[in-house]
Amino acid sequence: MRRKLAAGNWKMNGTSTSLKEAEALAAAFPSPGCEILLCPPATLIHRMSGKLEGSAVMVGGQDCHMALSGAHTGDISAEMLTDAGASHVILGHSERRADHCETDEMVRAKAETAHSQGLVAIICCGEALETREAGETLAHVGRQIAGSLPDGCTGENTVVAYEPIWAIGTGKIPTLAEIGEVHAFIRAELVARFGAETGNAIRLLYGGSVKPSNAAEIFAVADVDGALVGGASLRAEDFGGIVSALENA
Ligand code: 13P
Repeated sequence: MRRKLAAGNWKMNGTSTSLKEAEALAAAFPSPGCEILLCPPATLIHRMSGKLEGSAVMVGGQDCHMALSGAHTGDISAEMLTDAGASHVILGHSERRADHCETDEMVRAKAETAHSQGLVAIICCGEALETREAGETLAHVGRQIAGSLPDGCTGENTVVAYEPIWAIGTGKIPTLAEIGEVHAFIRAELVARFGAETGNAIRLLYGGSVKPSNAAEIFAVADVDGALVGGASLRAEDFGGIVSALENA
């Protein structure tokens, strides 16, 4: 039985005043029926972890460097994330692949480093619109999964997020059948590579325009173990609606 996970990715949004949203979320779900994670910008991780101490809401980073430490101005190490109170890190988000030219090989190296520091890596994949229209979604996602996941993945240290790029921040989502097709494909790839026990234990999140209004139908799709939520995770009220839908899924 895979534990459900509602993960919020605040991206480059949030300052001190946003911490009250995290506190409101924690207050609304003192003993939730699923895991809840917020990934604020790096500047807020430490303060958010402090505010959420003792609550059911976990805190994660949005990226880490593949090196353990050193001369990498502006970057954040996996150890810095754990030191600041993070338990998870999002890796290989399509925005980082686009903005920072991150390749599958880099994402894989980052995931290895994250694992070595005890972080749960949420490894992202997903196709652009042209790729979907060309009928190459599964081949593309398959390549990303094969290249971005290190050999040491387990159900405990890895979560895979499927985020079609054209669904991010657009209000468009794939059909439920399309989501189901990609998730079933990723599950089969994981089982083929890591064996049935590990392959079936790694959780698969859907991401891209998840809202309180569409969350329940998405969570009813087989092999959807939760969501990675951008815009709708910024306010406790919206994210709370998604968490409730997941609790009831
Ligand atoms: P939106 O929920 O804003 O579409 O963003 C999804 C996403 O990219 C989460 O990582």
